[in-house]
Amino acid sequence: MNTISNFFLFATILLCCQQSTFSQEQTKFEKTDAKSLTENVFSVFDNNWFVVTAGNGETYNPMTISWGGFGILWGSPVATIYIRDTRYTYQLLNEGKYFTLCAFDEKYRSATQYLGTKSGRDEDKIKASGLTPLKTELGNTYYAEARLVIECEKVYNADLQPENITDAKGADMYKNTESVHRMFIGKILNVWQKK
Ligand SMILES: Cc1cc2nc3c(=O)[nH]c(=O)nc-3n(C[C@H](O)[C@H](O)[C@H](O)COP(=O)(O)O)c2cc1C
Repeated sequence: MNTISNFFLFATILLCCQQSTFSQEQTKFEKTDAKSLTENVFSVFDNNWFVVTAGNGETYNPMTISWGGFGILWGSPVATIYIRDTRYTYQLLNEGKYFTLCAFDEKYRSATQYLGTKSGRDEDKIKASGLTPLKTELGNTYYAEARLVIECEKVYNADLQPENITDAKGADMYKNTESVHRMFIGKILNVWQKK
């Protein structure tokens, strides 16, 4: 075989191996529906944290969040998250149609801490965190290491209006700044749990 054939053979084998690794990772997840989840909504956000990932194709970015909730809106299960306008992910959330929420076991705490303290504007955070990105059929990013994956379609967004805040702690947060959190509501399209 000449060098070119060898190259193509090698490339094909490499691609097959990669694809089989990806599909092996994907089979570790079981599809479920939002109403079957038994998560405690308070502790999963506040203690366990979620990683929200927005963007698509080659341009996507994750960040850690602990503000949010789950509920029903217009008859559908939804996830609500609050993202400050200074985050790089905020930009991608505004531009895109979808986002994913991923929860992780405690052993990935340093990875989620990293995603919550560095900006994707400055570096490839996913690479640095050691997480393995995978794609849903819609092209949205989740991670092989996640224990729970929730894929959402953005259906509403609105800035928190400081003049409407009646909580002292909340009002204090926006006292000397123009920067606010925007609420994004996503209709839950798919839920996967690690088997
Ligand atoms: C535990 C934890 C929870 C956080 N929760 C939120 C949140 O709910 N909303 C938010 O806007 N930022 C939150 N952050 C801050 C962002 O994750 C952080 O600013 C991140 O570096 C933004 O990344 P980006 O610029 O790549 O989007 C949280 C950070 C940590 C560590």
